[in-house]
Amino acid sequence: MGCSGTYDQVMDATDPLRDNGIGALDKLSRPLRDLRVSVTDRCNFRCPYCMPRELFGPDHAFLPRSELLSFEEIARLVRAFASLGVSKVRLTGGEPLLRRDLHVLVATIAATPGIEDLALTTNGSLLANQAQALSDAGLKRITVSLDSLDPERFRALADTKVPLETVLGGIAAASAAGLPVKLNTVLRRGVNDNGLLDLVDFARARGHTLRVIEYMDVGTTNGWVRDEVVPSAEVRERVHAVHPLEPIGDEGTAERWRFADGTGEMGFVSSVSKPFCATCTRARLTAVGELFTCLFATTGTDLRAVLRSGATDEELTAAVRGRWAIRDDRYSEQRGAGATDLPKPEMSYLGG
Ligand code: GTP
Ligand code: 5AD
Ligand code: SF4
Ligand code: SF4
Repeated sequence: MGCSGTYDQVMDATDPLRDNGIGALDKLSRPLRDLRVSVTDRCNFRCPYCMPRELFGPDHAFLPRSELLSFEEIARLVRAFASLGVSKVRLTGGEPLLRRDLHVLVATIAATPGIEDLALTTNGSLLANQAQALSDAGLKRITVSLDSLDPERFRALADTKVPLETVLGGIAAASAAGLPVKLNTVLRRGVNDNGLLDLVDFARARGHTLRVIEYMDVGTTNGWVRDEVVPSAEVRERVHAVHPLEPIGDEGTAERWRFADGTGEMGFVSSVSKPFCATCTRARLTAVGELFTCLFATTGTDLRAVLRSGATDEELTAAVRGRWAIRDDRYSEQRGAGATDLPKPEMSYLGG
């Protein structure tokens, strides 16, 4: 199994955050740069690979509102993370647009010193009404999960009453509001992989960046089987045969390729076939304020308790720095090597 870099390459030895104590480095010398903030564990879709209806039915106990971090608490935590080197924030869920007045939180985070990039991952169902307010509040870009362009297939894959056209309307509204759009497709063999070229054409025609994601063994409920993973190399060959592609390098989770005819780019997220743990600078905050240092971590650190105990900003920052300092996660690189058999939290809870 390959990996996209060595741990020594993650951080330039001349990076000012390395030595002066301002930033945070983990045990594998990876800096803290990105924060993914889940604002709710609820979702109005029931994608079987994420929130299968049998397990997330009417009786499922979602988090009560009082348990959730308030916008003020999230803003305070974002300031603490920014002081440790975080410059990129992504809001996630569940479905983040179910959280009332999300644009208010967006405005606060956008105004936080040090935060240069602010993005949102959504299923698109509530986007048409909110896109303009989010853009006006300072959101920089948006990522919409879209696994199929076939209305029937979409309905089965998202297990929702929301029709595909509502999501497509949301995507169009985001574009019209000036937000650059990425489309995330989790491709599964025999499930939706025959819709790949339709998704490529849809994205290219509208100037969106399609990112094809390898199906991962996140959580414990999705019944993951390796046979359903379509390796990125194969996906790329299928696209390349019709629309020739040229590599333009790696960025975060994705390998970027551009269309040779100049009609934009697409990305491949290969966390199964080519893990990118060596360059992983991401921390995750759950809706109740737990800090997870890996998508596959089995436990989090309760930052809400620190917040609600009356901690000073310095104490809060020290708690984050202390946890990051002992981070040694690299699950995707260890996958299959018996890395852990402990139950992993669900993606809808961790924010993807
Ligand atoms: P950009 O900032 O636009 O590059 O987005 P991103 O790739 O960081 O975020 P996005 O939510 O679009 O992530 C795309 C997919 O990559 C997610 O749905 C996950 O499936 C996967 N992913 C994101 N972060 C991680 C990670 O840290 N580890 C692993 N293994 N997979 C991840
Ligand atoms: N493997 C890969 N990606 C997944 N997502 C949800 N579950 C999985 C999985 N098992 C994706 C969603 C969304 C993002 C937040 O995570 O499709 O784009
Ligand atoms: Fe909801 Fe996204 Fe999970 Fe689907 S993948 S159930 S849209 S949180
Ligand atoms: Fe980062 Fe964990 Fe994903 Fe590896 S498996 S890239 S360490 S979140």
